[in-house]
Amino acid sequence: MCQRDCQHWDPEAPVIYAVTPTYARPVQKAELTRLSQTLMHVSNLHWIVIEDAVKKSSLVENLLARTNLNHTHLFVQTPVPYRRKGSVNYSITNNCDFFITNIIMISMFFNLFSFFFQPRGVEQRNAALRWLRKNKTMNDKGVVYFADDDNSYSLQVFDEMRYTKEVSVWPVGLVGGLMVEKPILNLTTGKVVGWNSAWRPDRPFPIDMAGFAISLQHILKKSKAYFAYNVSGGFQESHILQQLTVRENLEPKADNCTQVLVWHTRTEGPRLTEENKLIARGIHSDVGLEV
Ligand SMILES: *[C@@H]1O[C@H](CO)[C@@H](O)[C@H](O)[C@H]1NC(C)=O
Repeated sequence: MCQRDCQHWDPEAPVIYAVTPTYARPVQKAELTRLSQTLMHVSNLHWIVIEDAVKKSSLVENLLARTNLNHTHLFVQTPVPYRRKGSVNYSITNNCDFFITNIIMISMFFNLFSFFFQPRGVEQRNAALRWLRKNKTMNDKGVVYFADDDNSYSLQVFDEMRYTKEVSVWPVGLVGGLMVEKPILNLTTGKVVGWNSAWRPDRPFPIDMAGFAISLQHILKKSKAYFAYNVSGGFQESHILQQLTVRENLEPKADNCTQVLVWHTRTEGPRLTEENKLIARGIHSDVGLEV
């Protein structure tokens, strides 16, 4: 692995493999810029970015080239039946075209529908798992974290996860309809005994993607563990964690799960009403500009 010049690198410390699925949309560059500039402060980090696309986009390629991050750029397209409504015929060329298709085809209903039922990022996260299993060995020390591009991360969350033995967990802010979704600990044993989740608390692991990390060695050891389409959105975390661990073995981080170090902020979709009027007249505000 190349350690790029500007990054702090300690050959003794485990590498954090931050796995970020991404897809073309008006806010994509803003989100990836924000996330990449957070990750640039983290030592021993390798960013695996997987585009939901038929080929690498120049937007993501350019962005990765500008960072000083160690990175791997992959792409894999979500199969047709599982694609986002409105992105079926969309190829990554122009965000405005996406927007037109988007407003025509997406209704609130479909947004909600796909949020709750359509699993997202399955193919892309699995591509990262395959890449790790192909390119890393049991001698490589590391930890794997699914870092979506629409969250806000404290740098401290990366310190917390770095020495994960198998699977570590911590609270996530602004998710699951709550201010915070968090593991509940037995204060005597320090073990996870449950969760405070309100949405489908019957899930085997009612936890958000941003609330856990898995050691690289454990990913390699449990080589059959993958995300899957035959489980609903909201159950992907449970599905992968059930293949990797049991509740008793979870390692609570962030001061026994008393600190919130990551937030599911999500970016508000931009209002492009004026842009759409332009597009209707065959004009774009972003001609010759990558936004
Ligand atoms: C977490 O809780 C356990 C059990 O009560 C305790 O032994 C440990 O010191 C605590 N750790 C932190 C960082 O507070």
